[in-house]
Amino acid sequence: MKTHGYTYRTALAASERVHWRVEDLIGGDKGLDFSKPFLPESLARVEPLTFLGPRERLALNQIRGLGYLYTFGLVEEFILPFVLDHARPQLHGDPYAVRALLGFASEEAKHIHLFRQFRDEFEQGFGTPCEEIGPPDAVAKAVLGHQPLAVALTTLHIEWMTQKHWIEAVKDNQDLDPQFKSLLKHHWMEEAQHSKLDTLMVESLSHGMDGAALDAAVEEYLEIGGMLDGALAQQVEFDLDNLARATGRKLSAAERNAFVAAQLQGQRWTYLGSGMTHPNFATTLGEMRPAAADRVATIAKNFC
Ligand SMILES: [Fe+2]
Ligand SMILES: [Fe+2]
Repeated sequence: MKTHGYTYRTALAASERVHWRVEDLIGGDKGLDFSKPFLPESLARVEPLTFLGPRERLALNQIRGLGYLYTFGLVEEFILPFVLDHARPQLHGDPYAVRALLGFASEEAKHIHLFRQFRDEFEQGFGTPCEEIGPPDAVAKAVLGHQPLAVALTTLHIEWMTQKHWIEAVKDNQDLDPQFKSLLKHHWMEEAQHSKLDTLMVESLSHGMDGAALDAAVEEYLEIGGMLDGALAQQVEFDLDNLARATGRKLSAAERNAFVAAQLQGQRWTYLGSGMTHPNFATTLGEMRPAAADRVATIAKNFC
């Protein structure tokens, strides 16, 4: 029994009311303010690291901000071909579905472009280069090697998670850099329709599958999550180096351990826990396969 009222037609109509271009949001006089934090503390988790000075914590927050938008760009590199592949067999079918899915893909191409430009601007302003996980094409290949329903569930998770971050942690936060916040806001405006389209994709891909096939797809979704978790641990190591390069600060062994523990927990909540526990993600999963929703809820406790 579906509890949502999403349709391709209403998602298309809503997405057509949103208009922004990359060049309207970034470049020229729209610069980043490096005197302000970029990410909310619930995602950045820099404040418990009291052995870092205020300037070092601010630099780490901004490094996490770069990683955040870079990671969106990274996942969009598999979402874009996935949505195109899903649309292609339907090109002669429901015109609302075709247009909504192609609009979705086109918006993700725009987001990839936006976040690449953001990285260039960040690196110019920040002053030292930052290493990030990837490369995006290898990650896309690894994710797209999984069955379509597993990729659709991953995409659904990511897109609800993105919205949760904006609504709960960024929207009313007046301390963050307005330019960084503007990028998150404009991204969210389009993501709001994507998660509805993801829900419809999950329903169409799972239609007619038996319990064993659904469980296998959920297992693959968890494998993709496990792969992402490994990449997040790698990013924490990169961020130790990124911070050392930016500030010159060398950490003791105990400080390093504290850094890794707090940052890994922050990364896991940001990209795994907050998506797995999103009520709309849990509802879609539960309607598809109740036992799988319980399994995911149990595993999510490790990432919250
Ligand atoms: Fe996006
Ligand atoms: Fe999206």
